[in-house]
Amino acid sequence: MRFSLCCISFVWLCCYGVQNVFAYKIPQIKLELIGDKFNVSIPDEAGIENVAFNINRNRPFKAFEQGEFSGRVSTPIDNRWIFESKRHLRDDDTIYIWTDVQFNKNRFRAMSTPIVVSETLTDINEVINDNKSTVTTETPPAIDPRTEKCEPALTKIRDRNVCRGELLFEENFNGNELNVTRWRYEVRLPLDNADAEFVLYDTNAEITNGLLKIEPHIWGNDSPDADIRRGSLNLGARCTAYQNPDIECRRQPFGRVVLPPILTARINTKHAFSFKYGRVEVRAKLPQGDWLYPLLLLEPHANLYGQQAYASGQMRIAFIRSNLQLQTQSGTEMGGRLLNGGAVLRPEAIYRNAFMVNTSRDAHFGETFHVYTLTWDDRRLSFEVDGQKYGSIDGGFAQHEVGQNYAWTSGNYMAPFDQEFYITLGVAAGGHGDFSDDYLSKPWANTSPKAALNFWRDRANWKSTWTSPALVVDYVRVFAI
Ligand SMILES: *[C@@H]1O[C@H](CO)[C@@H](O)[C@H](O)[C@H]1NC(C)=O
Ligand SMILES: *[C@@H]1O[C@H](CO)[C@@H](O)[C@H](O)[C@H]1NC(C)=O
Ligand SMILES: *[C@@H]1O[C@H](CO)[C@@H](O)[C@H](O)[C@H]1NC(C)=O
Ligand SMILES: *[C@@H]1O[C@H](CO)[C@@H](O)[C@H](O)[C@H]1NC(C)=O
Repeated sequence: MRFSLCCISFVWLCCYGVQNVFAYKIPQIKLELIGDKFNVSIPDEAGIENVAFNINRNRPFKAFEQGEFSGRVSTPIDNRWIFESKRHLRDDDTIYIWTDVQFNKNRFRAMSTPIVVSETLTDINEVINDNKSTVTTETPPAIDPRTEKCEPALTKIRDRNVCRGELLFEENFNGNELNVTRWRYEVRLPLDNADAEFVLYDTNAEITNGLLKIEPHIWGNDSPDADIRRGSLNLGARCTAYQNPDIECRRQPFGRVVLPPILTARINTKHAFSFKYGRVEVRAKLPQGDWLYPLLLLEPHANLYGQQAYASGQMRIAFIRSNLQLQTQSGTEMGGRLLNGGAVLRPEAIYRNAFMVNTSRDAHFGETFHVYTLTWDDRRLSFEVDGQKYGSIDGGFAQHEVGQNYAWTSGNYMAPFDQEFYITLGVAAGGHGDFSDDYLSKPWANTSPKAALNFWRDRANWKSTWTSPALVVDYVRVFAI
């Protein structure tokens, strides 16, 4: 009696297992919005032992990799395997999910088709594309580095060890003010040994509805008596000068020297967070308006290779010249439909494209939100927009004909990008580095002492193009690689 039960049981298990390795398909994923949270779930079925959900907001998975939100569920509730996330999803979000199911002794993984939140209303059912369902017996990737095996990372941060795939920094701009534990405002005038952009950086960012908004304004809001040739500026104790308080904290108009025509903001994580190698993602709507440009940067923490003229480098997660139209003499379109990512290693405008990659769209990059990604490792910088790679830049800058900084030969192949960098967000206007003198209708000449004044004098031509001049940032995340 006991013997035959054992055999029957063995045969049953064996057949069940074999049959189901080929027959089991991860069923429909259900996404339910519940107030500020959401649940994803699949129905229970005899044989399921646990289920992991990996979820990305607005970023497709390129592999079965760790999601932005993820969790493993070990017991079903009311016949469903439910993962609850306390995240708030927005109407314009697109959700990507892959599911890992331990079913008897096998693991099944499936990538679901993307789910557009605005189409879900209260709940939706998305059918998984059957032929993407795969069977695997490997162990799954780390779901939560704190509880699962920690794979060593290339990424380094000063105060602790990190695991590959770990989310090291996340800012969603919730609440109604800047979190000063992570971010500081820069309050200063630009240095004249870099871009000398025509702005004053001050504390005028706004945080509302989970978004950071940095909107540039014309000096004195361009009221009739506002004149950048009169008055004086002294930032006093608020000034956050890097190098030279005489230039960065005070200005007295005199002749061609004028007050900054544009008031804007710039924030950074220098005091709180910097890292070496990693993947940075920023979801943002870039500014639209002539002679503006967004600052989505990684800047050097220690300036080991020198302070001046980008000797220690700058990485641009994403960059556009925000002009609605902007052409070179030869007719190349350089305005807001051309996206660049890359490195800045020289101050001169003519060298700016030497370390940039680009991609173009029919629409200005300031029309909607996009996710901009920089992956920085010990061989190269790689750039993506909305999960699509558009270019990469290999290291070896010390040997590059345009780079050529002897100091970098003391570093590794990526020098000067072999040190810790911090995150900077902001908006700038004009300056001598990013708008080449061969762009049509440019109202100033680079390096001219009258540049800022001529830019300001031309405002009747560019003011009307500032239809949506703000940089709006939804989130910033840094992952270890
Ligand atoms: C969402 O998930 C949580 C945790 O599993 C569960 O307690 C809750 O009932 C779920 N909500 C709905 C509406 O299913
Ligand atoms: C299988 O996937 C491919 C690529 O995604 C798709 O073109 C094809 O229609 C799918 N076939 C079925 C039967 O779903
Ligand atoms: C501000 O940032 C710190 C450090 O990351 C974090 O611990 C804290 O929860 C944040 N505060 C708010 C209100 O989000
Ligand atoms: C964009 O990149 C391509 C390929 O590297 C390059 O040939 C082209 O000059 C770039 N375009 C602009 C406008 O920078």
